[in-house]
Order: sequence, then C-alpha cells, then structure tokens
Amino acid sequence: MHYIRLLRPAKIQSSAGGLVASLLFTITTDLGDSFLCPEDGSIDLVVAAEDTGADPAGPAAVQGTPTSLGALHVGDVLPWRIGTDETLRMGVVMPAAFEFIAGVCAPVSVRTLGLGTGYTGEDTSDKTLDLQFEEDIGESIARHIWDAGVVTSAYLADACSSPESIRGILPIEKESFNVLELGSGVGILGLTIAGILPKAAAAQGQALKNARVLLTDLEEAEERARSNIARAESTLARDLTGDISVTIEYESLGWDEGREGRFGSLAAATPWDLVVLSDCTYNVDSLPALVGTLSALHTAKERHLDLEGNSSVKSAVLLATKPRHSSEEALFELLRDQSWAYKVVKEIPLPKIGEDDEVVQIYLLGKGGHID
Ligand SMILES: C[S@@+](CC[C@H](N)C(=O)[O-])C[C@H]1O[C@@H](n2cnc3c(N)ncnc32)[C@H](O)[C@@H]1O
Repeated sequence: MHYIRLLRPAKIQSSAGGLVASLLFTITTDLGDSFLCPEDGSIDLVVAAEDTGADPAGPAAVQGTPTSLGALHVGDVLPWRIGTDETLRMGVVMPAAFEFIAGVCAPVSVRTLGLGTGYTGEDTSDKTLDLQFEEDIGESIARHIWDAGVVTSAYLADACSSPESIRGILPIEKESFNVLELGSGVGILGLTIAGILPKAAAAQGQALKNARVLLTDLEEAEERARSNIARAESTLARDLTGDISVTIEYESLGWDEGREGRFGSLAAATPWDLVVLSDCTYNVDSLPALVGTLSALHTAKERHLDLEGNSSVKSAVLLATKPRHSSEEALFELLRDQSWAYKVVKEIPLPKIGEDDEVVQIYLLGKGGHID
C-alpha cells in the first residue's frame, strides 16, 4: 500500500487571490523505502481544504484514490470488498489530513480508518466507526501507520458481519474481555479492537460488560499513542450504547524487560484474554525478546490464576505480519521452542500500485492448549 506523507509541515499564506496552501509530500510505502511512480507517470490526486471557522484554515486533506474524502475504508483494502472498482483493484493510496491551528500546521498527519461495516445486532442501520490516528510527519518506526495494522483492522471490522468469522479470530466467551497489544506504535490495531468489541461480542451472542485494551510499546511511542487513545475515546463515547464499558490505556513495555517477566503495573495487573501485535516481527534480532515476552505473559497468567505450570491455562495471541524477508521465518522456530502452536487464519493480498505482490498474514498462536 502507499501513503501520502508530508516531508515538512504544510504552510498557509495569504495572497491577493485568497489563501494559498503549500504542501510538499511523497507517496511512499509504509517503510518509506520506495516511492509511487506509475508506469504512465500520472496519478489523480484530490486536495481539499476545510475552514472549520475558528482557525484561519482548518484541516487540509490529500488523497490518491477517489474514496470519500480523507478516509480509507474497509472496502478499499479487502479484496473481497473492493468488488469491480478497477481503480481500487490497482491499489490504494492512504489519504492524510493536516490540521492548522492558528494558521500553523501541527507536526502530525491524521489518518482516518472507516470501519463502518459489520454486524449491528438489532440495529439495522450500518453505523459508521471512523477512527482517527495521528502519526508523525517525519520518519520514525513507532510513530507511523503500517500496512499489517491497517489491513488487519479492516479484516476484524469486516469479520463482525459474520458470527463464524469473528468467532474464529476474536472469540469472546465471557462478560469481560482484556486485550494487551505489544509494539502498538500509533495504536491502530488495539484501538480498532477497542472500537469493534461491542459489535464482535453482539455478533457472537455474548453480553459483553467490561473490556480493557492496553497498548504497550517503547517510550518513544507514548505521546502519539496517548493522543490516539484520546481521539478514539471521544469517537467511542459517541458510538457506545448500552452498559458496555471499554477502558483504553497505555503503558511502556520493552521486550527485553518483558522476556524477564518485568512488566509495568498495568500489564501485570490482568491475566490477558488476548495479546495482539502487528508488524512487529520484521527485525530478526528482536524476535527472541518478543517471543520471550509472549511466554512471560503466559507465565504471569498462570500465576494470576494460581495455576502455575498447569496445562489448562491457555494463552491466545493474534499476530499480523507483512513478510518482508525470508529471515523472519526464524519466528516460527522460536515459537515451537517455547511450545507455542500457530496457524494462519487469513492471508490477504495487499493492493499495491505498480509493484510486486505483497500479502498480510494473520496468525493465531496458542499456548497451554490446542488452537482449533
Ligand atoms: C513497524 S512498527 C509497528 C507498529 C504498530 N504495531 C503498527 O502496526 O502500526 C514496530 C513497533 O514495534 C516496536 N518495538 C520494536 N522493538 C521493540 C522492543 N524491543 N520492545 C517494545 N517494542 C518494540 C516499535 O517501537 C514499533 O512501534
């Protein structure tokens, strides 16, 4: 997939004819390792500005494919939802919006993910769930959106339209459900799960009452993750109905500490029903610490349940990856060594303009029991 990415903050200047916006941006991959260069050398872009009233200029949005302005929707990335739209079949460019406060561009771009399809229980209106994610304008790993998170979030939202599909990937069997995300970055996967949990539970006929989602990453991710939690909370406050309570939190968790069982107070406080992670397995050097952290979370769960070493304690992990190199296969040997079972639940081809085929793989891992 490609992304509109600003190279420096946008500018708004007054001129005789009105306001002039200057945007310097690339259209690049999640890794930023190649730029979009269509064979015929042209691509249609839509640039729009909205004056929200209070500021000299409101948000400006740039987008590469003609979806509704400023958002990427589930139907833009999942091959079975794209249908016959030839433009989308060729690939997608994720739009970005830039906000001006008192005429100055904030140092972040805002991506909107439209997750508004899916099961709505008794309510037949197809509610929209548009989640916004801030990311840095400059280069960074922890402060950007990555393909696997986008596609997996779209997949989970879409799966809510089928009880079997959502039960197969996000089984909710109790009134409470607790999710911990490792390497959460800007929080796209964990916040999407927080947003769709009520729908996911309703589709499974489960009366969910309390849910907790804990995003974790290195310290450098914290600021963006907390901003995105605040954005998600205000969206979900409008969307949540009934007496379901969804708590979303952030806590730093490095895998070098995690593998030793050294968790912060929030991560340590709960026997997690599900651990999730996306695009965290590309760096082979950090795989031992990552798998060690998964195993340490399993041991912590055994302790919580006062069943240390008891094989009846089960841990479940949802792992999404866009394989980038064959060396990443080392993950599976480490998982086997630490008695994790794994299976691919879904492989989703990525729409990508003019470049090699890529795929997002979604795995379920299980320890202490069988994964069906
Ligand atoms: C490619 S990004 C993916 C971010 C996010 N999961 C997503 O899909 O958008 C990898 C993430 O793993 C985190 N990470 C890398 N090494 C880590 C470590 N040793 N401990 C904790 N997090 C780590 C990075 O900070 C980064 O946020």
